[in-house]
Amino acid sequence: MIKELILKNRSYRRFSQEDRIEGQTLMELVDLARLSPSAANMQPLKYILSYEPEKNARIFPHLAWAGYLKDWPGPAEGERPSAYIIILGDTEINKSFGCDHGIAVQSILLGATEKGLGGCIVGTVQREELRKTLDIPSRYEILLVLALGKPKEEVVVETAGPTPDIKYWRDDKGLHHVPKRALDEIIIG
Ligand SMILES: Cc1cc2nc3c(=O)[nH]c(=O)nc-3n(C[C@H](O)[C@H](O)[C@H](O)COP(=O)(O)O)c2cc1C
Repeated sequence: MIKELILKNRSYRRFSQEDRIEGQTLMELVDLARLSPSAANMQPLKYILSYEPEKNARIFPHLAWAGYLKDWPGPAEGERPSAYIIILGDTEINKSFGCDHGIAVQSILLGATEKGLGGCIVGTVQREELRKTLDIPSRYEILLVLALGKPKEEVVVETAGPTPDIKYWRDDKGLHHVPKRALDEIIIG
């Protein structure tokens, strides 16, 4: 079951934008992050939820999509995320956040997958512009943005060859391929 969930939990970048996500659903997902591990149990992460079209539209321009797909500028209007969770580090609790935010986003994504949703972690963010547009106080470091929605694309995982090209790619039918290094390549001892 967990392998099935992890396999289904791909990075989705095209969504049925008209399928709205409720604030309550986002709260349930953040609750999964709340219950996840945190170094020294400091729990320095804070969250901003966005699920209204107007707020979503203020976030979208500050995100970069699929760097390897050079001729794709990102999701078109109608295929954009219907919600976002912005993951912040509260510098009044700690100055560094270790891998807490990585664990938190994976918990959220697995929960979203279970609910029939999908998402994409976005680390390439125009942070200062986003801070300005959402009026995020300087005490919070913007760590990651998680885009969420009902996926409108299919993604397949493949095992990369012996000299692997790890770049994901999209075929002429729009199917998104994600090569993963083989197990015997990554276990080195
Ligand atoms: C920390 C982190 C930052 C990422 N940043 C971006 C990003 O800025 N834009 C994007 O389109 N995808 C981003 N991704 C998604 C990766 O491209 C994706 O995980 C990778 O292509 C493998 O696909 P998979 O998630 O389906 O296994 C990010 C993933 C991680 C873990």
